[in-house]
Order: sequence, then C-alpha cells, then structure tokens
Amino acid sequence: MVILGIESSCDETAAAILKDGKILANVVAGQAVHSSYGGVVPELASRAHQSNIVPVVHETLKKAGIPGADIDAVAYTQGPGLLGSLLVGSSFAKSFALALAIPVIPVNHMQGHVLSLLLENTLTFPFLCLTVSGGHTQIVRADAPLKMKVLGETADDAAGEAFDKAAKVLGLPYPGGPLIDQYAAQGDSKRFHFPKPQMPGMSFSFSGLKTSFVNLVQKMSPEEKNASLNDICASYQAVIVDILLSKLAIAVNTTGITRVAIAGGVAANSGLRSALKEAEKRQGWEVFIPSMRYCTDNASMIALSGYYLYKSGITGDQKDTSHARLPL
Ligand code: KG4
Ligand code: ZN
Repeated sequence: MVILGIESSCDETAAAILKDGKILANVVAGQAVHSSYGGVVPELASRAHQSNIVPVVHETLKKAGIPGADIDAVAYTQGPGLLGSLLVGSSFAKSFALALAIPVIPVNHMQGHVLSLLLENTLTFPFLCLTVSGGHTQIVRADAPLKMKVLGETADDAAGEAFDKAAKVLGLPYPGGPLIDQYAAQGDSKRFHFPKPQMPGMSFSFSGLKTSFVNLVQKMSPEEKNASLNDICASYQAVIVDILLSKLAIAVNTTGITRVAIAGGVAANSGLRSALKEAEKRQGWEVFIPSMRYCTDNASMIALSGYYLYKSGITGDQKDTSHARLPL
C-alpha cells in the first residue's frame, strides 16, 4: 500500500510517500516570504504553495524511487488551516488521484500531528498528546489511531502564537519561537515575572500573557531591551512551559494515563522537551517526543493518517471541501 501525503495547511508545502506505513520520502519546503511580516500572510502563503507543490511532489517521488503510477492513494490535509493554502493541496491531491483513478483521502491536520508520534515510535494506546503549534494548543486523549478526544484547548491564542507575537514585539523575524528558544538558553528564567492565566481544568489561554509581555517590553528603553534579551526570553519561555506542563499534569491525574506525548511545532522547544524529560524522571511518566522534522508540519503524518483511514475503509471523493475550522 503506497500512499502519497500532501500537507499545505499553513506555510509549509510538504509531500511524503509511505509504503505500508513506513516512510520512503519526506520533503518539506518552507516559505521565507513571511519572515518580515511577523506572521503568515495568507495570500502570500497560497501563492507560495502554488509554486512549490509540483516541485515538492516531484522531489518526493524521486527520493522514494518510485514512479507516480505506483501510488495507491493520495491523502491530503482537509483542515483546519488557511483556506487558500488548503485549497492548493486539496486541488493538487484530487487532480493527481483523478488522473491515476485512485482514491483520495481527506485528513484532519490535528489528527495528523497526534499520529506523527507513530512514525518513529511503537507507542501503545491509550496515550495523551499535547499538540502545540502556531495555530493550536490541545490536549488529546488517543485511544486508537482513529479514536481521539480533545480534553482541553486554548480559548484564544495558541502557544506558538504566544512565542511568535512576543518575538515580533522584540523585533525578531517570523517564526520567532525558535529564536526565543535560542536566546532563552543563555538567560535567567527567574529574572522577570509573568502572571500565569487562571483557566479551569485543561483549558488554556495565552492572550493575557502576551499582553503582560508587551507591557513589560514597551516600558524598556532599546538599550535595556537589548541587554536583557536573553533573560526576557528565558522568563517568558519558562512560564509557557510551566503552563503546558501543569495542564498535562491535570490530564494525567484525571485520566490515569501516564503515557504522554507532544507534537506540533512548539514540541521542538528545548525548554518544553527538557521539562518533559524531567517529568519522566520525577513523576514516572512515559514520555514520547518526535524528532524535530516530525514535530513541525510535514506530510508523513498526513500520509500515515490516510493509511489508517484507508485500512478502515474510509476514503473521500472529488466533492469533499476544505475547511478552515475542522474539529478533531
Ligand atoms: O506545527 P507547526 O510547524 O505549524 C502549525 O501548524 O502552526 O508549528 C509552527 C509553530 C510556530 O509558532 C513556531 O514559532 C513554533 O511552532 N516553534 C517553536 C519552536 N520551533 C517552532 N516555538 C518555540 N520553540 C521552538 N524551538
Ligand atoms: Zn501543524
């Protein structure tokens, strides 16, 4: 069973080929065009996907060493994401499938992130997954590849947005999360205090935290800001990691499930990764962290979701529509 996966929900144009659930090729093209805007510009993202999609799929087929005619099904991201970007991927996937007379399989991007854990690990169900990206922050209980439940999510900004918006205020290019991570590594996380949001249960909120960050930084002179950059980043990152870990602890206590995974772009954050390893030692959690290339948006996770859907007899058709919002 050879599946071509297509991912285009945000600012990465990605394709992958999986044979019987094993990765043969995984190609991701980023979009530098957004770096000076402090965030993804939807129209620019759609256009970049349009120019990237054919070369990316071509390279994926070449790397996998198989002709297009050997593909058995095409899985693509149906949502959630930027509608224009999703349409580029879905149109390509549907055309490719139509030309070869093979099934097309729409996939939920958030399900893809959770299943990205199975690309490299043999992970036993059930497990908890904290999916943290530029668009989403969710704690999901996964009971089977196609049986998942959202236990809690953000009421406003996503964790990645909290990183990116803070980075913008500091004058750093988009995406700012990795840069904050780098500066934080050399800073004092106790120097500045940011209030933790009071959200019930497993719900998150990051917009108040972002406002307190803006208030702190705007009061500083440019010299002060430069001199304190590492400490600002370290203190801010520490509070975000603290919020994420405390919500995960609630999820573990509520469900009794101690297998804990993280996914999504923010799972690449070194503070979060080390806090989880610490929790593994101290609290006896069994922790699963994907390698960096499967944390951020990729098409292997979409192809793998497509594989499980196909095995369960679930495929789509040419009439399926893309959705900016798509519940898990
Ligand atoms: O999953 P992803 O690639 O795309 C979305 O679906 O959003 O996640 C991108 C997000 C961005 O907000 C980016 O700043 C954040 O992940 N990110 C990080 C790090 N690497 C990526 N945030 C904090 N620390 C990092 N090392
Ligand atoms: Zn994502």
